[in-house]
Amino acid sequence: MSEPRQEPVPGTHHEPGGDAPPASDAPPQETIHVDRFEAAWMRIAAAVLAIFFISILVSAFASGFQVPGVYQRIDPTKLYEPGSPFADPGLRELAPGKYEAYIRAQIWSFTPNEIRIPAGSEVTFYTTSQDVQHGIKIQGTNINMMILPGQVSTLKAKFDTPGTYDFVCHEYCGQLHHTMYGQLIVEAEQVAAQ
Ligand code: CUA
Repeated sequence: MSEPRQEPVPGTHHEPGGDAPPASDAPPQETIHVDRFEAAWMRIAAAVLAIFFISILVSAFASGFQVPGVYQRIDPTKLYEPGSPFADPGLRELAPGKYEAYIRAQIWSFTPNEIRIPAGSEVTFYTTSQDVQHGIKIQGTNINMMILPGQVSTLKAKFDTPGTYDFVCHEYCGQLHHTMYGQLIVEAEQVAAQ
């Protein structure tokens, strides 16, 4: 009658005095035992990472999401000096349908607080603050930036649909923060053929 062979339980040590491991010249093989559920969770974690990574690629390249960039540093005490684009901010046409908009933020207003462009325009926004931290979010667009004194933030958007796009300050900047807003008006007239 043969004794039932006792399989070693993975992850446990051999009891002293138990079955001696088979003598062999080969070095003992080390294996890591991973519990079934632990392995399942590791696969789920890897899958979530892959989904996040793919969604970043899709939003960046397919949906055109951008992270606001630091375009340049600027001395907030010199915004009004001649040659500063923020001394007389506003809309500038670079080419048919291509604009740049300089917006200066201060307590508690945007300059300018109204911008008009024809539908189909592409606008690059440049913003900075002359005093404290502000923010700008243009409704219905991807434009959402911090506005910091000393820093020029920039983002680009294309406006195909006519309408009024409100923009607001979304960083609390003091007592009249809630009054800090403006409008971007996209007029139905189409951009002339380029
Ligand atoms: Cu500016 Cu809130």
